[in-house]
Amino acid sequence: MELSERVQRIKPSPTLAITAKAKELRKRGIDIIGFGAGEPDFDTPDYVKEGAINALKEGKTKYTPSAGIPELREAIANKLKEKNNVEYTSSEVVVVPGAKMGLYEIFATILNPGDEVIVPAPYWVSYPEQIALCDGISRFVELEENEGFILTVDKLKDAITDRTKAVVLNTPSNPTGAVIPKKELEKIAQFCLEKNILIISDECYEEFIYEREHVSIASLSKEVREITFTVGAFSKSYSMTGWRLGWVAAPERFIKPIINIQSQTISNPTSFAQYGAIEALKDGGKFPAMMREEFKKRRDYIVEEIRSIEGISCVKPSGAFYVFPNVSYYIRGNISNDVDFVSYLIEEAKVAVVPGSAFGKEGYIRMSYATSMDNIKEGVKRIKDALKKLS
Ligand SMILES: Cc1ncc(COP(=O)(O)O)c(C=O)c1O
Repeated sequence: MELSERVQRIKPSPTLAITAKAKELRKRGIDIIGFGAGEPDFDTPDYVKEGAINALKEGKTKYTPSAGIPELREAIANKLKEKNNVEYTSSEVVVVPGAKMGLYEIFATILNPGDEVIVPAPYWVSYPEQIALCDGISRFVELEENEGFILTVDKLKDAITDRTKAVVLNTPSNPTGAVIPKKELEKIAQFCLEKNILIISDECYEEFIYEREHVSIASLSKEVREITFTVGAFSKSYSMTGWRLGWVAAPERFIKPIINIQSQTISNPTSFAQYGAIEALKDGGKFPAMMREEFKKRRDYIVEEIRSIEGISCVKPSGAFYVFPNVSYYIRGNISNDVDFVSYLIEEAKVAVVPGSAFGKEGYIRMSYATSMDNIKEGVKRIKDALKKLS
């Protein structure tokens, strides 16, 4: 066999695939409205770009330390202290080329073959694939629409085995937008402490919470901080998805091996991108707040519109920029699953969405509202018209 067993375990990212398909149709002159993209539709702020441009002009174009430049590690540690209420020293922060790579490095750091990671489903598409790449096993915990897709400690209790090494928390969540309430986080943290389970807290959407404050689980106590990886990124918060920059913060016993992995794989995150990121953090959260206000308007509009469609229910998400409507009513006749439903929408409505099954939940679709209000209005109208034909 030419290919390794490891690489044969993984599938390509279905969310990137749908974005590519929409792009290809657009290239052929077909006017597609895309609800597939997992990235803000705002440009990266100019002051961030200038930070990178100045770095380029000043010749900051060489290798940096594998953990990232000290000024950026320091700035991230400060942000985590001031905004997230968690005290990390800069040596407990590693700059990573995107949260995605950071998560992969965490799994590579903690998993031995056969170790289990609890993954609440619906989940972000890359967790199970990365866990499999690192020889681990995903134990899925089903989250339910009638519970707002919120993870509870009782669900964790049901999933634990003697091989459980860690649990992935993603709050706010991609794809559901669910936010785990502080009270539940406290119970989850207590349980993980008692059972010796590490916490991987993916907080990429921390800036997009609409009715309450974001809570970093590591902020709950010193003991919780000791068993937690706090993962964040510039990607969504500062509309810097293409820059590939994020961070992992954790006790040094975990950060050191992650830095070793980086030193033997990527060497370092891109030098001039890191200088841009320093400027992003200097804005004190103004840019994300601007996006948050806009996303909230869009969320309110899209939820109401989707709920007005016959047969569709939709939880109002508290965070991120996705809705996750239940479309199982339309899964009948020629449409035998959510993938068929998504194909029907692309062909009939010229609208691109992602099937729930890509996130481990059949019968749903994920729609990103990180697209203009005009697109949302037109896209929803097209969906309504296409579904009327099925009713
Ligand atoms: C939940 C979640 N975690 C991590 C990532 C990866 O972020 P990055 O672009 O910083 O690698 C994404 C991106 O879609 C995401 O939705």
